[in-house]
Amino acid sequence: MARLSKLSRSVEGKVVHITGAASGMGRATAYLFADEGAKVAVTDLNGEAAEQVASDIRDAGGIATAWRLNVADPEEIIAVTKAIGEEFSGLDILVNNAGIGVFAKLDSDKYEERWQLSMDVLITGVQRLVRASLSMLREAEHGRIINIASTEGLGATENASPYTAAKHAVVGFTKALAIDLGREGITANCVCPGPIKTSLTDFISEEDKNTFARRRVAVRRYGDPEEVAHATFNFALPSASFMTGVIMPVDGGLWIRNA
Ligand code: NAI
Repeated sequence: MARLSKLSRSVEGKVVHITGAASGMGRATAYLFADEGAKVAVTDLNGEAAEQVASDIRDAGGIATAWRLNVADPEEIIAVTKAIGEEFSGLDILVNNAGIGVFAKLDSDKYEERWQLSMDVLITGVQRLVRASLSMLREAEHGRIINIASTEGLGATENASPYTAAKHAVVGFTKALAIDLGREGITANCVCPGPIKTSLTDFISEEDKNTFARRRVAVRRYGDPEEVAHATFNFALPSASFMTGVIMPVDGGLWIRNA
């Protein structure tokens, strides 16, 4: 059938770089983009696990290559971004997903160290990846940046201030990117996941997860990584060309619930 609409809802042939793609939401996002015909650069601090994800994608008939990348290392960011560009002849979509949970009480001896780690991984890494990728995103027909923040980028939880501050910075940085890059047709958007079942939340018992979800989450459960991957995917589409600077909770209604 001939197409009746102008705007494409396909990422077929697009090159996407997903950081922290060896596990959880990053892996679910890598699988989804691969299923939809994108060429996927799978990077992670855990190089072996990243290779496994790329190999799963290739086994399923998709296109993917893995690299070990520590997003807290500026030199690795430059080298891996260049390698991705060479491997796939460019870059269309950058998904800044890599992350760690960083908790610390304000008077803890380890506070400075925890703060620095949080900033290095969660926000400085995002800034460096965007700047390293910029020339390729400018060459792309529909350049897209999607940053994975958190509902901690909108509110705060006790004893998580290094993480909360970094995730608020991701929200602010995304808005600034949308303003700075808008005239070039590159969009920048932010996904704020709520409580999602991944290795980051493994330490919380099922019972505690259920209690929290019953009290706080409108849909009364934790989310699955795939549900976040689909939100990310929507921002990456060529048809998402007028959505930029959006800060989108994907949280089962956690954010809007008062009691
Ligand atoms: P996950 O632990 O399953 O996956 C995170 C991945 O990032 C891992 O594969 C890990 O090896 C990688 N990683 C950690 N440090 C890295 C570094 N320095 N360089 C490169 N890769 C690194 O966790 P999840 O939940 O899938 O996390 C993905 C993103 O979602 C993170 O940014 C996290 O802060 C955010 N998030 C998670 C929520 C949850 O409930 N699970 C809620 C809100 C946000």
